[in-house]
Amino acid sequence: MNKPRKLIIAGNWKMNKTVAEALALASSLKLDLANVKEVDIVVCPPFTALESVSKATLDSNIKLGAQNLSEHHFGAFTGEICAGMLKEFSVRYVILGHSERRQYQKESDALIAKKAATAHAASLKPIVCVGETLAEREANQMEQVLETQVRGSLAGLTKEQMVETVVAYEPVWAIGTGKTASTEQAQAAHAFIRGVLGQLFDEATARKVRIQYGGSVKPANANELMSQPDVDGALVGGAALESRSFADIVKNSV
Ligand code: 13P
Repeated sequence: MNKPRKLIIAGNWKMNKTVAEALALASSLKLDLANVKEVDIVVCPPFTALESVSKATLDSNIKLGAQNLSEHHFGAFTGEICAGMLKEFSVRYVILGHSERRQYQKESDALIAKKAATAHAASLKPIVCVGETLAEREANQMEQVLETQVRGSLAGLTKEQMVETVVAYEPVWAIGTGKTASTEQAQAAHAFIRGVLGQLFDEATARKVRIQYGGSVKPANANELMSQPDVDGALVGGAALESRSFADIVKNSV
C-alpha cells in the first residue's frame, strides 16, 4: 500500500492473556511477521505480561506498547504504573484515553492530556483514543464530540510531540460489536480529526500525524479501511488475540 505516512497496526490485548498465553502469541507473531518492514507493528499486552513479551520480542520488528500509565512519575498512588516502570521493559507506545477507560474509570480529556505529557516526558509515544458513542452519532454530535476530545486530550503538546503521537479513532459503537464503520464513515472522521489537528497545531504537523482506525477490525475489512487516504493503520482488539488474524491484518496491508 502506498501511503504518505507509515502504517501503524497495534493490537490492544485489553485484560486478556496470562503470561504463558501472551508468550505463545508474541512468539508466534514474531515468527509470522519477521519479514514485514513496511508497517510499524505494536502489541499492547496487559502490564503483567510486559516483561515476558518484551524478552520474547527482543531483536524483532514487533514493538511493545502498554495500555495505560499514571500521570505521575512516582509516589503514593496505589495500583498505578508510571512511565519509568514501563521503560524498564522497553515499552515504546502507550494507549491513552481508551473509551473503556473513559467510560469505566471516568477518565477526562484533561487527565488524558496530562498522561500524554507524562508519556512524552519519558519518550513514550502515546496512542490517544477518541470516538463518539452511538447516541452521539445519531444526534449528529460526532464532529463536536471528536473536536472536544481531540482538543482536550492533546492540549499542551508541542508540534514535535504531536508528530510523535498517534491518534486512534475508535467509534464506541464499533468496539467489540462486529459493527465496523464503513470506509466512508472512517475516512470522514479521520479527515475531520486531521482538520482539527491542523487548527490546533498547523497543516504541516497535521499531515504528519498518524490516525489509526479501531472498532471490529478484522482481516476481511482491514485493508479497505486502511486504503482510505486519512486512515494510517488500525488499533485491533478481538482480532489481535489470535496470531493468525492479527498477522493476516498486518500482512494484507503490505
Ligand atoms: P475490537 O477490535 O474488539 O472491536 O476492539 C477495538 C478496540 O477497542 C481496540 O482498542
